[in-house]
Amino acid sequence: MGQIDETKDGRQSDRTVADWQEMHDSKREALEEFNQAKFGMFIHWGLYSIPGGVWKGLKMEDGGVGPAVAEWIMCRRAIPRAEYAELAKGFNPVGFDADAWASIAADAGMRYMALTSKHHDGFALFQSEASSYNVVDGTPFKRDIVHELHKACPRHDVRFGVYYSHSRDWTDGGDCGDRDKTELVEGLRSIATNHWDPSPVSFQDYLRTKALPQVEELARRYPDLFLMWFDTPGYITEADSFRFYRLLYEHAPQTLANSRISANHVARNLGDYQSAGDNHVPEPDEIRSAYWETCGTMNNSWGYKSYDQDWKSPLETLSWLVDVVSRGGNYLLNVGPTAEGVIPPECVAILREVGAWLKINGEAIYGTRAWKVFREGPTSLSRKGTGDREKMGFAVSFTPEDIWFTEKEGRIYAITLASPGNQKVVIRSLKDSPVRSVRMLGTDRPVDWEMTPDGLRVRFHDAPASPYGYALEVRLG
Ligand code: GLC
Repeated sequence: MGQIDETKDGRQSDRTVADWQEMHDSKREALEEFNQAKFGMFIHWGLYSIPGGVWKGLKMEDGGVGPAVAEWIMCRRAIPRAEYAELAKGFNPVGFDADAWASIAADAGMRYMALTSKHHDGFALFQSEASSYNVVDGTPFKRDIVHELHKACPRHDVRFGVYYSHSRDWTDGGDCGDRDKTELVEGLRSIATNHWDPSPVSFQDYLRTKALPQVEELARRYPDLFLMWFDTPGYITEADSFRFYRLLYEHAPQTLANSRISANHVARNLGDYQSAGDNHVPEPDEIRSAYWETCGTMNNSWGYKSYDQDWKSPLETLSWLVDVVSRGGNYLLNVGPTAEGVIPPECVAILREVGAWLKINGEAIYGTRAWKVFREGPTSLSRKGTGDREKMGFAVSFTPEDIWFTEKEGRIYAITLASPGNQKVVIRSLKDSPVRSVRMLGTDRPVDWEMTPDGLRVRFHDAPASPYGYALEVRLG
């Protein structure tokens, strides 16, 4: 690959953009597999799982800078680096079982996984030559968690990927470039970087001595990574982002990079697919790629938060999945294991019900694309971020007339999350469509259907197999 040409202000020259395009274009198959997968497990786990959102009696909501999600405790409580690092001496998750986690994901119908290999606190869940601040060299646990999950996932038909916080590192990232990058990016305010106790290094030195070497370690050891999920790019320049992209490509040419590899202010995004906002279902004008993903929490925190029991019910979780997939995206749903290495049982129970629904209706989800209509029906949904859901809670129920649509190989799927009490429904968006056949997924029993001036009217002989509605396969022509 070509040398990186860098203009004065850190923007890429045309040559590197052409290099990027060539590398990105070679990932067509990997992107198709990404679209096939549709549903993944995000895992936020690290030293922050020990305090679980409470530090010296103060909760995340008791003031501080940054979001109130539990993995931000070092920032919210402005914990000095040395004091926070003491947590590593007590990190001994004896309950951790990689096969159990991969099995929970598989039973939920999740086809891939993304584990926080290093989050904003700078602590790595893998052995690293670039930094001894990691689970193997720095804790009594001594086991390489990334390595164990990388081995376990294929045993359960789950593709394995990692999250890596490449720009923000509150232990080794200095002020994450707050000082020496601001002049390059006018108006970019401080992004909750480490102002309270920054390490005495420049952002460029951090990138050169820790972030780039660790990304290279991960890509070199695990060239079959499904994806590398970069996050909070902050001030990073196009040239810096290209360094990460090219390094990943050199060792793992089919590993997908998400769009947060690039900062929002740069002209060209170097992600292979687009990450939508957290717990955000994008409107059509927000979708910039044929391949995109919304990540979501099961309560209101990514990292384990001991006092947040506001779990998404199976119904709400399914509504997020079908809402995202009906718009053509993937849904990456997060679990925050405890310090002992246990995925909260409430999450496991919810995921098991989601998996049961997917066993019946997965054909309407996996490998589908958006149809010309995302959904019809009377219920309105607002999915505009983690805080939005926390504020709103989730009270909505769905009617049999709330119908989401997906499409695959010319077949249209009509999905509803409520069983039709009177055993019939009219699908208005199929009005005037040349319907040839209608089949309910999960049963061989026929459904009666007819075209009416209002749309496709369907009458069922049996109640759906799932308590959370059903899906119809509609063939046209
Ligand atoms: C935000 C948070 C981070 C979390 C991520 C998940 O970027 O800063 O803690 O990992 O959302 O998308």
